[in-house]
Amino acid sequence: MSTVLHRLKEVASPTIGLGCMNMSHGYGTPVPEPAALRALDTAFDMGYRHFDTATLYGATANETLVGKALQGKRDRVLLASKCGMAIDPQLGKKVIDGRPETLRQQCEASLERLRTDYLDVYYLHRLDRQVPIEESVGALGRLVEEGKIGGVGLSEVSATTLRRAAIEYPVAAVQSEYSLWTRNPEIALLEACRETGTVLVAFSPLGRGFLTGAIKEIARLEESDMRHNMPRFNAENYSRNWRLLEDFMAMAGERDMTPGQLALAWLKAQGDDVIPIPGSRSVDHMRENLVAEHVRLDADTLARLNVMMTPDQVWGARYSAAQQADIDTEEFAPTAGSTHTP
Ligand SMILES: NC(=O)c1ccc[n+]([C@@H]2O[C@H](COP(=O)([O-])OP(=O)(O)OC[C@H]3O[C@@H](n4cnc5c(N)ncnc54)[C@H](OP(=O)(O)O)[C@@H]3O)[C@@H](O)[C@H]2O)c1
Repeated sequence: MSTVLHRLKEVASPTIGLGCMNMSHGYGTPVPEPAALRALDTAFDMGYRHFDTATLYGATANETLVGKALQGKRDRVLLASKCGMAIDPQLGKKVIDGRPETLRQQCEASLERLRTDYLDVYYLHRLDRQVPIEESVGALGRLVEEGKIGGVGLSEVSATTLRRAAIEYPVAAVQSEYSLWTRNPEIALLEACRETGTVLVAFSPLGRGFLTGAIKEIARLEESDMRHNMPRFNAENYSRNWRLLEDFMAMAGERDMTPGQLALAWLKAQGDDVIPIPGSRSVDHMRENLVAEHVRLDADTLARLNVMMTPDQVWGARYSAAQQADIDTEEFAPTAGSTHTP
C-alpha cells in the first residue's frame, strides 16, 4: 500500500482532505488568524485528518497558521506541505527553485513553522526547469531517509517527469488539478501514477468554486482574487461555462445533493488512489463537502457526468499564459473554441 494511503488509514482519515491555502492565499483578503484557527479546529472536530499547506501560501503565513491549529493534534493527522516555490522576501515575488540545498533549507523552515519534526508528505511545488528532476527528487529522498518527511510528493508534473522521478526515488503522491471540468490527468498522468504506485491528490476539486454553483457573478469576487486572472473565469468564458452547470445542478438536486457534493463524489468514484482536497474558509462548506465521503454514485450517473463537462465543452484555459509558463506538462486538454489551448 502506498505511504499516503497507509498514513490515511493510520489516522483514520476520510479520503477527502482539507486544502488550507484558502485561509491565507489566492482568494482575496486572508482570513484573520483567530477566525482561521477556529475554522481549522472545527474542521478537525468534524473529522478532517489530512491537511494540505505550502511554503508559498501567504508567503509562509499559511504554514504558521496550520502549525498553530494542529498543535497537540499532530500525531492524529496526515500533514502535507510543499517546497520549491516561495515568495522571495527581497524580490517580493514568487521564485521557483528546486535545487537540493534550497529544498533542504525550506524543509527545515517548514518543520519549524508547522511545529513538528516530521511531515507526512513534502511536495516539490513546481518543477524547476533549471534543475533535473532527479536532483530535486533525490534531495527529497534523502529527507525521507533522515526521517524528516514520510514521502516524496510532486505537484503539477507531467507523466514523463513522474516516471523519471520514480526511477530516482519512489513518489508517494502527485498533486494535480483534477475535477469534472479539468480532466488533464486523464490524458496520461493518472496512468503514470498507477504504474508507479503514486497516489493522485486532486487539488481544486470543486473547480475553484465553479462546480458548487455558488459563484454567480465573477465581478463579486474580491479584486485581489486570483481567479480574475484565470481565462475560464473571465466574464465572457464564465457566462458560457455557466451553461454547463445547468444540467449538473439539476442532477445534484434530483439526488438530494449539493453540486459540490456531486463533484466530489464523482472524483471519489475515480478510484481509492484519487484523493480530493477541497479548500474552504467556511465551516458550513467544509461540513457539506465531507458528506460526499459517503456518497456512492451509480453507473448511470457516472456515465452522464463523464460526458457533461469534457474539455472541448469548457471555455478558457485553466491558467493564464504567464501562470502556464511555470507548469510542466506535455498534456494539453483542448478547450472549447480552441484546437490547442494549454
Ligand atoms: N499544488 C498546487 O499547485 C495547488 C494549486 C491550487 C490549490 N492547491 C490545493 O488545493 C486546495 C483546494 O483547491 P482550491 O481551493 O484552489 O479549489 P477548490 O477546492 O476547487 O475550490 C475552492 C473554492 O470553492 C468554494 N467552496 C468550497 N466548498 C464549497 C461549498 N460547499 N459550497 C460553495 N462553495 C464552496 C470556496 O469558497 P469558501 O471559502 O467560501 O468555501 C473556494 O472559493 C487548496 O487549498 C490547496 O491546498 C494546490
